[in-house]
Amino acid sequence: MDWITASARESFDRLQAKIEADLGSMSAKRRRAFFDRLEDRSEEIFRLAHRLYGWRWDFAWVLEELVLTAARATSDRPKWLRRGDADGAAWLHDGRSIWAMAYIDRFAGTVSELERAEGHLSSLGITHVHLMPPYAVPDGPDDGGYAVSSYRQLRSGLGSIDELGSYIKNQHQLGRGVVLDVVANHTADNHRWAEAAKRGEPPFDEFYLMFDTREEVEEWLPDLRMIFPDAGEPFVWRTDVAGPYGGKWVWSTFFDFQWDLNYQNPQVLIAMLSEMLFLANLGVVALRMDATPFLWKAKGTTCENLPEAHLILKLMASLVAVVAPSIVFLSEAIVHPDEVSAFVRPDECPLGYNPLIMALTWEALATGEVRMLADALANRTGLPPGSQWLTYIRSHDDIGWGFADEDAWRLGIDPGAHRAFLTEFYAGSVADSWARGARFQENPITGDVRISGASASLAGLETAIEAGDGEAIDLAVRRLLAAQTLAFTSVGIPLIFLGDEIGMTNDHRYGEEPTHRTDNRWMHRPRYDWARLAESNLDPTTPTGRLLAGIRRLAKLRTDHAPVFSNDVIEVLETGHPGVLGYRRSADGSELLILISFTREPSEVLAPSALASGEGTWCDVHDLARPIVDEPIELCGYQTALMTRSASHVR
Ligand code: GLC
Repeated sequence: MDWITASARESFDRLQAKIEADLGSMSAKRRRAFFDRLEDRSEEIFRLAHRLYGWRWDFAWVLEELVLTAARATSDRPKWLRRGDADGAAWLHDGRSIWAMAYIDRFAGTVSELERAEGHLSSLGITHVHLMPPYAVPDGPDDGGYAVSSYRQLRSGLGSIDELGSYIKNQHQLGRGVVLDVVANHTADNHRWAEAAKRGEPPFDEFYLMFDTREEVEEWLPDLRMIFPDAGEPFVWRTDVAGPYGGKWVWSTFFDFQWDLNYQNPQVLIAMLSEMLFLANLGVVALRMDATPFLWKAKGTTCENLPEAHLILKLMASLVAVVAPSIVFLSEAIVHPDEVSAFVRPDECPLGYNPLIMALTWEALATGEVRMLADALANRTGLPPGSQWLTYIRSHDDIGWGFADEDAWRLGIDPGAHRAFLTEFYAGSVADSWARGARFQENPITGDVRISGASASLAGLETAIEAGDGEAIDLAVRRLLAAQTLAFTSVGIPLIFLGDEIGMTNDHRYGEEPTHRTDNRWMHRPRYDWARLAESNLDPTTPTGRLLAGIRRLAKLRTDHAPVFSNDVIEVLETGHPGVLGYRRSADGSELLILISFTREPSEVLAPSALASGEGTWCDVHDLARPIVDEPIELCGYQTALMTRSASHVR
């Protein structure tokens, strides 16, 4: 037995009595289940905590508090959730899951009004809803809810935390999982912890990263990236911090009202764990871990993607698993593709957004060529077993052209020039661009700039409607369906930003809301248009009706072919045309062959037998009685072709 195993055993044996006392009135059976789970993970918890905090004189106390926090949450865990705890998260790999995301207020109004969306969510086959942070926020700007003042209260106007709990429970009964955020990197500057820090109250005076002098700040600055350059450098000078602690520099990676937490201090981790377990006991099936790369800071580094950030997530995951073993972490890391995938691990965040495929979908539409996209699908989507991508075309955030420079060079593309082209294209400043987006957070020093805009506006629907150009409208709808086809059939679990399924365009009046004025991401977070949904439902021949019907077909395709989608392997095919992407997905003798044209021109690609080897005749997925003739396939602009064959179709 190595010393870690021995120390872990000894520590947990010593802790046993204290934990017993904390488990309150729990039945013998539940106690046993808890201790079994703890026992399974005790060595891992000890090892991770020791790597982070083993150097501290109070390490034994740290370990004890972490485990006691988990024990308390276990005794608070409601009965209706306990049954599912043993089931694990089969949904991650069942090939059927479809996610949607929405702001409660902009989508439905209040928590109780979310019920009105029931029929719509079902019609899209939505299995999971990510509700954008609904928590209490400061007055004034709140970064779309990512400046959290309290996890235990909702933002005013949304309803109560109990109503949210009931909604989550109802959704659970309907078979749908609810997902909420943990904004672990920072809190709002009026969070209870921040207010206490301002007063210099221990232990909160060490909850944030505060510096007395500009000189200290200067020691860090040269290595740091500016995430929100409009907001200035990632430190803020707070003269309103009173008393002996007044006039400090506070680390704020994002906006100045979001203060970065100091995970060098284990009390921060203990406090955040407690908030996470509160959310776990509300009944969420997944926690979206916001801004994972930034959790740990070390002088002389970029303070992004550091090994300790991974240790923190692994330790949190392990402790949450002791309480609620089926909860999954979703990683939000918008960094270099190597670093993005490093967070997506079964023992860390088993699920991760795939910002690379998202950005390259738009890249392919702008260039009419699929080489970068095909290359990324083939070489950058592999994940360790037990982990999974969340694949999407738009979210509430901007689009960053986050492909790897080395990948671009290998394909003969100059990455800097290409990013500049893509930005100009989507900002609508290139002569024949159909897109209507806007530049977001331009960094004058590095030249880095991202793009805001609703998917429909980026795909050309807004300009086409304005021009009253029927053909352009048709092309825009096809672009959106081509992009969604990729999200629904390539890798991972598809995610819809609600509003995209009815082609909602940019909200150009976002600036009328004073707290949104300086953040043009609000352009692509419009209030949901229920009237348009009703019209689109009534008439599937209108542009938005076609889009909605097309997305519903994709949702049905996933259910119909769940075994194929549950196998995470994708085989990218040479189609014989630079503008057409092709890939095959297969499992247990069933196969899907998918072709997506990213060019507006008609194209001709290889015959099915030349595209994909194997026996049997391909049929149209929507019409199994219609065999596909084995000759070169002609596609119109942005057309998709989805074919299937299975052992039973082999003649
Ligand atoms: C994440 C969120 C983004 C927010 C940032 C800071 O990237 O998705 O909306 O601005 O974190 O919390």
